[in-house]
This record gives sequence, structure tokens and C-alpha cells, in this order.
Amino acid sequence: MSKIAIIIGSLREGSYNRRLAEALTRLPAAQGHDFTFAQIGALPLYNQDDDDDQAEPVMALKALVSGSDGVLFVTPEYNRSIPGVLKNALDHASRPYGQSAWAGKPAGITGVSIGAIGTALAQQHLRNILAYLDMPTLGAPEAFLQWKDGLLNDDGTVGAQSSEFLNGWMQAFLDYVDLHSV
Ligand code: FNR
Repeated sequence: MSKIAIIIGSLREGSYNRRLAEALTRLPAAQGHDFTFAQIGALPLYNQDDDDDQAEPVMALKALVSGSDGVLFVTPEYNRSIPGVLKNALDHASRPYGQSAWAGKPAGITGVSIGAIGTALAQQHLRNILAYLDMPTLGAPEAFLQWKDGLLNDDGTVGAQSSEFLNGWMQAFLDYVDLHSV
């Protein structure tokens, strides 16, 4: 059983990415694992002056990540990159220098957008950041998803057309965490 922290790159009520992440935790491959959603909406804007006195939501994020075996990022694409709220969270938990919560934690990346390229550029930018944060990141399979009717069922599970693919992706991510967690 793995403990997985889930970071959603959207604060929007009704976020497709949050709904996708919740559906991923309901897939057969996810059963028996322990998923916790990070609360990044309460984080202040990152300010290096605060590194010696990090706010409570920052400490909570760092504790969640530190206590997890792996991290699952589910994010939309904003203007061909990752949303600022996600970068803010990544920056917060990477500090103070030498006390990053991310280092060594295996990661998986997916996301859904209304655009046809399904967050591909956001995911690529995120890979760049995670490499610098020393997070081994599942390279393949990749999962680029476009939001459309039927992706999720009304009960919040993954729709029939995508369930085999996403279950395989989830299994690959959890196997990767198992191999790389320290
Ligand atoms: C977007 N959207 C978007 N979509 C995309 O495929 N590529 C992009 O570069 C962008 N850029 C972008 C910028 C901003 C500021 C917003 C608000 C939106 C559309 C995006 O896919 C859509 O709003 C999703 O619904 C966002 O995900 P959540 O909030 O539903 O999880």
C-alpha cells in the first residue's frame, strides 16, 4: 500500500481536474492505496522573506508530502504552462534551501483541459520543474486528456471509453512509486 499526496493545479469549484483526480482514486488499480488531497488554496503567495517562519498551510503541505510515498499532480494548462497556484505550491514546499519536501519523491503527472492537446505543454513544463526538484517522474505512459462528455460518469467514476487506459496509467504510476520510494 502506498501513501499518495494529490496536488490539483486548479482552485476552481467544480474543477475538471479535481473531478478527474477523484475518479482516478476510484479505479481498480487505486484500491488499497491511501490518497490525500493537498490544500494549496490556503497557501499565501510565496515570499522568500518568510522562509524562516513558514505559514501553517505551508507546513501542512510539507508534512503531507514528506509523509507520502509519492505525489500525483493533476493539473490544467494555463496559457501553455502550469497554473500559478501550482507553481506557488511547488516553490513553498521547496524551501528553505536544503529542506525541500519534494526531493526524492516519485511523481506522476496527468491533467485534463478543454483544449485538444490535453495539457501536454503544462505537463512538459511541470516535468522541467520536477527534474530540478529531484523528483523521479513517470515518463511513460503519458496521459493527456481532453474534457468531453463521457470522460467521467455521473457517479464520479471514469467512463467506459477511458477506464482501461486510465487504470493502466494508474497501475504504472503506483508501480513506479513502489520502485522509487525511499
Ligand atoms: C485556460 N484554458 C486552457 N486550456 C488549454 O488547453 N490550454 C491553455 O493554455 C489554456 N489556458 C488557460 C488559461 C486560463 C487563465 C484559464 C482560466 C483557462 C482552459 C482550461 O483548460 C479550462 O479552463 C479547464 O476547465 C481548467 O481546468 P479546471 O479548472 O476545470 O480543472
